[in-house]
Amino acid sequence: MEERMISAEAQEHDQSIEQSIRPNELKHYIGQEKVKKNLEVFIEAAKMREECLDHVLLYGPPGLGKTTLSGIIATEMGVQMRTTSGPAIERPGDLAAILTALEPGDVLFIDEIHRLNRMVEEVLYPAMEDFCLDIVIGKGPTARSVRLDLPPFTLVGATTRAGMLSAPLRDRFGVLARLEYYTEEELAIIVQRTADIFSVELEEQASVEIARRSRGTPRIANRLLKRVRDFAQVQGDGTITLALAQSALENLQVDRLGLDHIDHKLLKGMIEKFRGGPVGLETISATIGEEAETIEDVYEPYLLQIGFLQRTPRGRMVTHSCYQHFNLEVPNQ
Ligand code: ADE
Repeated sequence: MEERMISAEAQEHDQSIEQSIRPNELKHYIGQEKVKKNLEVFIEAAKMREECLDHVLLYGPPGLGKTTLSGIIATEMGVQMRTTSGPAIERPGDLAAILTALEPGDVLFIDEIHRLNRMVEEVLYPAMEDFCLDIVIGKGPTARSVRLDLPPFTLVGATTRAGMLSAPLRDRFGVLARLEYYTEEELAIIVQRTADIFSVELEEQASVEIARRSRGTPRIANRLLKRVRDFAQVQGDGTITLALAQSALENLQVDRLGLDHIDHKLLKGMIEKFRGGPVGLETISATIGEEAETIEDVYEPYLLQIGFLQRTPRGRMVTHSCYQHFNLEVPNQ
């Protein structure tokens, strides 16, 4: 019992830390300049018309700030955000319960929206389009459909796979925003901001080093900062200097491009077992023991972006620059 209390409190504490490092106003959100400028206009226009904001689909690789942006949209519109996810809504009734509990204007955030099932999706269409629910009462020949009005709301959907959304669902979003990987400069500002919130002294060069190794992703940057802070606390005097950051990042097995041991296992597995490919995703997955979906959603996008991996019709291939990164000789064709 004692242990459970502690762990529940610890969990709450962790969540409140996560909350504290998330900006809640657009002006404090760093990066994604295009998305931000457009959202600013759409939010202001909706407020001028005293309407709720049109439904927004945020898509892109994990960790780039989709949940954070959704929270900002709610704050800027002056409404509450309700959060759920595609896999959590199993039946149409689950969605109906969520929708009928909304207050007028609320933001409903559905993470992993590509994982909604068909039956649930069909309830969502009239809800998004006409703010109503079609409920079937009874069974068989006496069954009838009743239309229930819902409060107007903004659906913010987030997905790492826009391509897996059905066309009817995708078409019902008025705002489509693709989040991009962050630049090193943006990530350095983000970790500096987080260090300020934690009251940790972070030298500028150290913030750049952490940023450089964060795969363009704020979630990774903030995670690395927390771990580097642990090293600074235990092995240093609390200040994160460049030397301390470098040594901590070595211990964390994050290389100078931010690739971790799973990236290494993936790329080296392809090189050692398949001469760099082409090799199919399922085969890579079986070889390294990571789920194909995780490889595709979490690891591959950045490796494609930095040009270490290529997708070809015959499978994935490791590129020459990847061989060079590992100081390996490129094999003859
Ligand atoms: N923390 C995480 N992502 C952020 C962002 N884009 N701007 C500011 N702080 C952040």
